[in-house]
This record gives sequence, C-alpha cells and structure tokens, in this order.
Amino acid sequence: SSADQPYRTAYHFQPPKNWMNDPNGPMIYKGLYHLFYQWNPKGAVWGNIVWAHSTSKDLVNWIPHEPAIYPSQPADMNGTWSGSATILPNGTPVILYTGINPANQQVQNIAFPKKASDPYLIEWVKTPKNPLMAPTASNMINASSFRDPTTAWVGPDGRWRVIIGSKRGRRGMAILYRSKDFIHWVKAQHPLHSAPNTGMWECPDFFPVSTVSPLGLDTSSNGPHVKHVLKVSLDDTRKEYYTIGTYDPSKKDVYTPDAGSVEGDLGLRFDYGKFYASKTFFDSAKNRRILWGWINESSSVEDDIKKGWSGLQAVPRVIWLDKSGKQLVQWPVMELEKLRTGRVDVPSKLLRGGSKFEVSGFTASQADVELSFEVKNLDKAEKFDPSWVKAQDLCTQKTATVKGGIGPFGIMALASKGLEEYTAIFFRIFKGTNNKYVVAMCSDQTKSSLNNSTDKANYGAFLDVDPAKEKLSLRTLIDRSIVESFGGEGKGCITARVYPTKAIGDGAHLYAFNYGAGDVLISSFSAWSMKKAQIN
Ligand code: FRU
Repeated sequence: SSADQPYRTAYHFQPPKNWMNDPNGPMIYKGLYHLFYQWNPKGAVWGNIVWAHSTSKDLVNWIPHEPAIYPSQPADMNGTWSGSATILPNGTPVILYTGINPANQQVQNIAFPKKASDPYLIEWVKTPKNPLMAPTASNMINASSFRDPTTAWVGPDGRWRVIIGSKRGRRGMAILYRSKDFIHWVKAQHPLHSAPNTGMWECPDFFPVSTVSPLGLDTSSNGPHVKHVLKVSLDDTRKEYYTIGTYDPSKKDVYTPDAGSVEGDLGLRFDYGKFYASKTFFDSAKNRRILWGWINESSSVEDDIKKGWSGLQAVPRVIWLDKSGKQLVQWPVMELEKLRTGRVDVPSKLLRGGSKFEVSGFTASQADVELSFEVKNLDKAEKFDPSWVKAQDLCTQKTATVKGGIGPFGIMALASKGLEEYTAIFFRIFKGTNNKYVVAMCSDQTKSSLNNSTDKANYGAFLDVDPAKEKLSLRTLIDRSIVESFGGEGKGCITARVYPTKAIGDGAHLYAFNYGAGDVLISSFSAWSMKKAQIN
C-alpha cells in the first residue's frame, strides 16, 4: 500500500518490483509506444538482466508484458544488455542489443519481432548469425568495453550506420559500423567521434535536430538546416554530456562538435541532477523527438532491498534545439498534463526579500507546479565570482538558507510543516562581466530527509536567460521521491531523488520563498495535484 511505500511514484515509470536501469529500444509502432528496460527479475539490486517490456497509448499509462529479450543463445548467455530499436524502411522494427557471451565478451546482437502484425510486439526472435559485431584478434576492440548500440541511420549511399560505445585506454569512443543489409556489419576505420581522458562511453545517442523548427527529425534525416547531437554517458563519473555539431555521411563520416563543445566535466548536460543512460527516439505520430533517462536511487542498498525496488525513469521529455543553436531544450510530453487536477492559482504578487508563504489546496506530495518570476530591480545583485565554474559548486556552497542579493528565490517542495525537511529549487542572480547577468538554478537536497543514509548532494545549472529582459520560469514535477525541475522554459533541467520521513502524504507542503535582499515579483503561479497514472 502507499502507506508502506511512500516513495513509490504515481506517474513516473517504474516496474512492479525489483531493480531497473537503462531505458532500452524506445519506439512507436502501429500507434503504440514501447519501452523496454534493463530489469532484474530476481531482486532490487543490479543482476540477471533481461529486457522487460511495457507499452502505452499515451506515454503516461503503461501496461506490462513478459520480458522481450533474455539470455537464450550463446551470443547472450551471460547477459542481455542495453540497445536500441530501428524502424526499417518497410515499417518493421529490429533491435540491436549487447550480449555477453560465454567468454564474457561484449558483442552486438539482433532480435526481430516474431509477428510484425502484433502491435504489442510480445515475442522476439534471434538469429543464429548472432553476434553480428564482435571483438576479434585484429579489430583492436576492447572486449569488456564494447556495448550499447544506437538506433541505426541510413547514409546517402544506402548503407546503414550504427555506433557502439567503447574506449581504448582512457580514450572514449563511438565505434562506427556500416551495413547494406542490417546483418553483415563492417567496422569503419575511424570512430564516429572520440575524446581523450573520458573513459568508457556508455549508451551513446546520436540524432539530428532541426535548426529552424522545434519539430523532431527521423534519425536518418540530414541536409541543410540540420545539426547533429552526440550524447555519451561517462561510466567514470556517471554523468552524461552532449555536444552539438556537424555530420555529413557523404564526406568523412565523422562527427565534428562545434567549437567550444567538450565531452567532459564542463560540457552540456541534458540534466544537471540524476539522469543516466538516456536515449531518444523519433515519434513519427507527433513529429517530435522524445528523451527517456534512468534516475537511480539516492537511498542505501539496504533501503532499496527493504522497499523491494530500485530505479525510476524520468518523465518522457520532448527535446529540440534552442533558438541560439547552442543548447537543447526539454519539456515534459504534453500528455502528462492529462493527469493534472484541482488547479490552484496564486495571484501575481511581490515576494519581498526574506519572506515565504505556503501554497495549499493541492496534493503537495504528487504535483505539477509551474511559476514565473520577474525581477524589476537588479541593483542588489552580487558580483559573480568567476571561481564558480560549475554551478554545482555554487549550489553546494550557497544552500537555500544562505541569504543573497537577488535570490535565493523559488520553492520548497516536499516540505514538512516545521521545515525540518524540504527540497528547495531556486534561482540566484549575479552581476557578471560586460553588464551581463549570471543566473544559477539550484536543487538543494541538504534538508530533504531526516534519514541520514541517503545521498543529499546538491545540483546546479547556469541558465542562458537574461533576467533584465525575460521572465524566469520554473516547472517542477513532484512525485513522492522524485523532484524533476525545468528552469528557463526547459533550458536547464535538474532531477533529484529524495526520501522525506515527515513530508510524505498529507505531511507534505509546498512553500514559495525569497531569502534574498531584493524583492521579486511572482508573475504567475499554478499548482496541480497529479492523478495516479496506470503504470505496470
Ligand atoms: C549503463 C549500462 C550499460 C549496459 C547496461 C547493463 O547503465 O552499464 O553500459 O549495457 O547498463 O545493465
């Protein structure tokens, strides 16, 4: 029951029980959305991994199916790890995934739907030709670092391309393979891209984005007004980074990040909190590209075993290129708004420096909150200290109760009545150089729980918003043990896992606060209770 399981979510995807990690093979087929995921049928810790499977008509309500892919042949006897789906030109999907063979080498395999007429794609079959790609004595591939094939795409020569995450020494890389028939794959001499000192690149994702429209593109799209995005999940730091760049398969068939892009500790991230092993797919029904990402627990392994499960998926997010061309923007799929109920509006008002107030009348433990601020007078903004290279450092030093000039202002979610517990999502505005302002968005978990065994690290992101000209918006999805925030209309996303002991059920409250010296205007503020979705 929900009383025994205060941290199980109402609308974030999760399995009925046990361990879940990466989203696998997301796609839409015959009008149905499919999500597979790395799942342990036997417990709440990683192991015995199979591809569990759920389908949905709306990306919100999901029904479970039997595992689709599990060890069944020599090429995957020791594991069926992450991979991706590709819709072939005749409309049928295929899945490429990583198998662990009896020698514990990582190899790439294919699976086909047994009956393509079945929209649920319940049964999958494999070919004895597996593995299709494998480390050999001559191809220099590191057999323990060769995994997670992407969705494949076709070049102008009609040949398929796919990348596989790998490393050579400390150089992370996306190994490129080509094929005429999807069965016989030939390794390209050069990786699609590589970077020194980044370690293993897990779960690469490679996709086109339009420079002129927020609509998504099919993975094989290319040409004018198209840029490409390469995302990698760095095993060393358990963080993801992406770059935006150029890719022309008719030239060298390599990807070149735009100047200033790096894979490493200062690069761009889909999410500056917890978010890993993510994967996008093109939704041909609504012409959008949708991002899934795994959110692991911040609780101890003992607590995970006690509660019998571990791992969530972030809400599916639409992802597109920002007008600046310099970053991506994300927003929860609009279908999620069907769950909103009992809207509460706060009339526009001035939030004076040093004040806070409660917003009530909705289910604060299970909510969608959308608000925006305007700062009419930025005179009190403190000088930005250039040593704050990473917003996370700034947000770790300056938690929600540290008074500033302009900010911190924002919300306290999953807050107990006496504020013994709360998770604060807020902004701070600083004066930078050249009369530019620096906007930091923070998610402060330091007071999120009286349970001291949980990870309470803080997260931060700098937002490319000009507070002298634009509103500063925040949308936060609160769902019992997850707080998923979108700042600056989706320019900065931060997801946190929290485990309140008092701020659960009716004990959860929500406050708006401004602990800065300067006043800020709340120009809009709406909160909704969220209905429970049907999830597995
Ligand atoms: C990423 C990952 C992948 C691998 C899978 C195994 O979280 O380690 O590289 O395929 O999980 O479950």
